[in-house]
Amino acid sequence: MKIAVIGTGYVGLVTAAGLAEFGHTVIGTDKDSEKIEQISRGTAPIYEPGLDELLKRNLAKGTLTFTADVDGAIRDAGVIFVCVGTPQDESGRADMSQVEGVSRTIAQNLNGYKVIVEKSTVPVKTSDWIKRIITLYRKGDTPFDVASNPEFLREGSAVSDFLEPDRIIVGVESDRARDILVRIYKKFGDRVVVTNIDTAELIKHASNSFLALKISYINMISDLCEKTAADVEQVAFGMGRDPRIGKEFLSAGLGYGGSCFPKDIKALTKIGEDMGVNMDLLKEADRVNHKRTAVFVDKVKRALWILKDKRIAVLGLAFKPETDDIREASSIKIIRELIKEGSVLRLYDPKAMDNMKEVFPGSPQVVYCEDPFQAALDANALLVITEWAEFRTLDLARIKDIMANPIIVDGRNMFEPGSVRKLGFEYYSVGRK
Ligand code: UDX
Repeated sequence: MKIAVIGTGYVGLVTAAGLAEFGHTVIGTDKDSEKIEQISRGTAPIYEPGLDELLKRNLAKGTLTFTADVDGAIRDAGVIFVCVGTPQDESGRADMSQVEGVSRTIAQNLNGYKVIVEKSTVPVKTSDWIKRIITLYRKGDTPFDVASNPEFLREGSAVSDFLEPDRIIVGVESDRARDILVRIYKKFGDRVVVTNIDTAELIKHASNSFLALKISYINMISDLCEKTAADVEQVAFGMGRDPRIGKEFLSAGLGYGGSCFPKDIKALTKIGEDMGVNMDLLKEADRVNHKRTAVFVDKVKRALWILKDKRIAVLGLAFKPETDDIREASSIKIIRELIKEGSVLRLYDPKAMDNMKEVFPGSPQVVYCEDPFQAALDANALLVITEWAEFRTLDLARIKDIMANPIIVDGRNMFEPGSVRKLGFEYYSVGRK
């Protein structure tokens, strides 16, 4: 059975290439024909480790193809993965217009039984709407099923997350759809968890919101650490030793950004509230996260007092390492604040500079640098915003020599305070002395 994947963003591209890697025949489709052309040559429009190789390998095998003919791809396939965007609207709810549009297109091309699989993150009960739209727009009464198979991939490790998942959630309401999806993921055996559709939809939002909650929790604890002699890294280590808590997602810092957590926690809050459920716990986590930028800029002020005309090196722009994605990156909020204060910013990131130039074009106040040393030259302070591995091994002695004032404000606890101070830096980090 042929699989069509609609949408070639992060989720769609990785899903298409990953399903082909599992041995299926996959046709990826998107209405953006330029994007399709580029992808067909084996180059992803985004930076994601391992993705170009995965694309090239499966394109060469001939089991993976891409087309801008969305209608044709739907007609050809028995299973359709919907991977279009569900961005946040002004109210914080997910904007479902792309999912609705695709559902109509599927209905108009329903030439035989198909399983329509929601892969994008969608509010619980979306499948009811998809069913309604397809039923309204299809010709005749061609049968179909809707299923939910949420994606849990992380940017930066999306390929390995897809190829080696912890769990595969499959929400279905018919045996026929269940059998098809279980067959697609056959190699993962009991890692496939079958539920009803509402449950599968909710697992995705509930997982992401829980992880966001965990991050805000450790950030709240880090505020407390800063008022005491406690060290948040050690608190997190000690907490993480309890298997009920676990050590992951306990890094205090600048809070969560990216295309998922900020939007998912708001969307789930709205979903709950629309249904009359008190979601204050999530609202509070979001509020803690929102405050992280101000807390960080205050630290910069504590180090420099007046920010006007200060030359500040900014290392790291991406919302996390190993990606060029700057959506909801703390760097944007911090840069905006420092521009307002009148600082001169010298920015460097290994991958995200081009994307950032679209938000802040180069100017006398915003200078893009070729490496960390150029950024640090004559700087009054150096800020670490994204924990790229290459910053960990930076020649800090050299950095100190070329800075005007040896001051580091580290938003990601990348360095060991003792050794940085031994080099002669004034060092500020998060939740520790
Ligand atoms: C997330 C989920 O992890 C993934 O399962 C889901 O499908 C999509 O959303 P992603 O947004 O790519 O993935 O990145 P992730 O690694 O989860 O980090 C999200 C944000 O949280 C980043 O801004 C990161 O810096 C921050 N973070 C993460 C912390 O501040 N502390 C931590 O301990 C972990």
